[in-house]
Amino acid sequence: MQKIFNFFPLTVYKSSLSLSESEKNEMIEEVRLMEKKSKNLDYKSTTKAWTGDTQGFEYLHNNPKFKNLFIQINNCILEYLESLSVNYKKLDLYFQRSWATISKKTEHIDNHSHDQSHLSIAFYLKKQKDDAKIMFFDTSKHNEFIPQLFDSRSLAKENIFKKRDILNSSKVVFDTKEDDLLIFPSKTIHGTEQGKSNSERISISADIVFLAKDSSTLEHLVPPVENWKKFSN
Ligand SMILES: [Fe+2]
Repeated sequence: MQKIFNFFPLTVYKSSLSLSESEKNEMIEEVRLMEKKSKNLDYKSTTKAWTGDTQGFEYLHNNPKFKNLFIQINNCILEYLESLSVNYKKLDLYFQRSWATISKKTEHIDNHSHDQSHLSIAFYLKKQKDDAKIMFFDTSKHNEFIPQLFDSRSLAKENIFKKRDILNSSKVVFDTKEDDLLIFPSKTIHGTEQGKSNSERISISADIVFLAKDSSTLEHLVPPVENWKKFSN
């Protein structure tokens, strides 16, 4: 009797956060104010979403109006680590960078990864049903036994697969609702759907880094920052 085994998953966490309408409205107004005070508008093209990290607003975790949101994200990150059986008591966790994104009309976010951090989140502060969804991309494609099998448009047109699912795809379009929080490894390539009409979709992104509490016997974790010495340059 045959058995199929599927190895090497990508684990994405989703949870709906509990924030009051007034709290959310205060954050939305704060994000709109950031957009008004953009410091680098030349960088934004008309087809791309506004992204606060490139406009001078990359530390929302230090903004009192976002305090409760980041407390809830903190707790969800610990749940994510539990799901991977990580002994996080041995680690120091930091919010490294956090910012808002605003997508209006057909604006989208190109595929990218957050290479300077370890875990990343996306929180949907304002999202309508028809706004663009997030997409995740698999670069390892372990099941792609013929080169280009998964992503070839001509092969797809000729229905080379009877159906598409996670066993034969390099892309997942993931549906989320307002208030949803996603957590995923920062190295995961992601972006938003193109060609959708967004009615001011606002998401919050944050990057989390992990340092060892005690690195004295460790080779592969970043040592505690308090022992570093800054260059005089
Ligand atoms: Fe991102």
